[in-house]
Amino acid sequence: MDFNKTRYIPMSRRRRIYEGKAKVLYEGPEPGTLIQHFKDDATAFNAKKHQVIEGKGVLNNRISEYIFQHLNDIGVPTHFIRRLNMREQLIREVEIVPLEVVVRNVAAGSLSQRLGIEEGTQLPRSIIEFYYKNDQLNDPMVSEEHITAFGWATPQEIDDIMALAIRVNDFLSGLFLGIGIRLVDFKMECGRLFENEMVRIIVADEISPDSCRLWDVKSNEKLDKDRFRRDLGGLVEAYTEVAKRLGIMSENERPAGAGPVLVKG
Ligand code: TMP
Ligand code: ASP
Repeated sequence: MDFNKTRYIPMSRRRRIYEGKAKVLYEGPEPGTLIQHFKDDATAFNAKKHQVIEGKGVLNNRISEYIFQHLNDIGVPTHFIRRLNMREQLIREVEIVPLEVVVRNVAAGSLSQRLGIEEGTQLPRSIIEFYYKNDQLNDPMVSEEHITAFGWATPQEIDDIMALAIRVNDFLSGLFLGIGIRLVDFKMECGRLFENEMVRIIVADEISPDSCRLWDVKSNEKLDKDRFRRDLGGLVEAYTEVAKRLGIMSENERPAGAGPVLVKG
């Protein structure tokens, strides 16, 4: 398949496959491909809190592209093919495993709340958790027992997912530490890629400041979606800082198409 020659499909004629809280998936130019469109919507607490934050989609598209391209380059299979424009990327169509895979290096968020461990405490080792993707149920945490008993993934797939999660965590921890950022935790999703009668698990969805906790090493300043969840303000500025440190935006560049930045604190 030649992914470099993308047939132009006007926005209005594209078939919408799925609309989530922060992204839309459209039919892709070739069979087995989709277009992933990043919206400016920010949600938290299962969409009970919602705000449109201009420029967020553009930033997440670029940051997620950077991460997924590097994962591809080091041999971690992902759905990412290439970025198409400021808000969209071409991806491989996969069957999403209905799990949110969270990897934690430092206590924060729901782990701190559930277990009473102070935020910022280094964990004795990286911890992998699974949550069942189901908005009606508020994405409950589940164990491998639930996952295999209810058939959401096989034991072999869980092994593959955990192996991928560890590789992604090691790569991201080093990447971010190199730019003065501590990777506290992150969420990833996996999909089944059907290829020549074979099925394999690959990394899907997005990895961006929406789905990671990123703290500045020196100041501990939060450079992630907790700025929105906790009403700290300055979300676009924080994501822009991450993009700049990754070297994907020059010092003075503002996310194109971002318009005036208005962040309610
Ligand atoms: P938590 O501490 O709220 O469980 O979140 C752990 C990590 O997972 C954090 O980096 C944020 C990310 N996350 C998502 O990307 N989507 C979600 O729906 C939730 C609850 C967390
Ligand atoms: N993204 C989730 C939601 O829309 C929750 C979160 O990230 O905090 O509710």
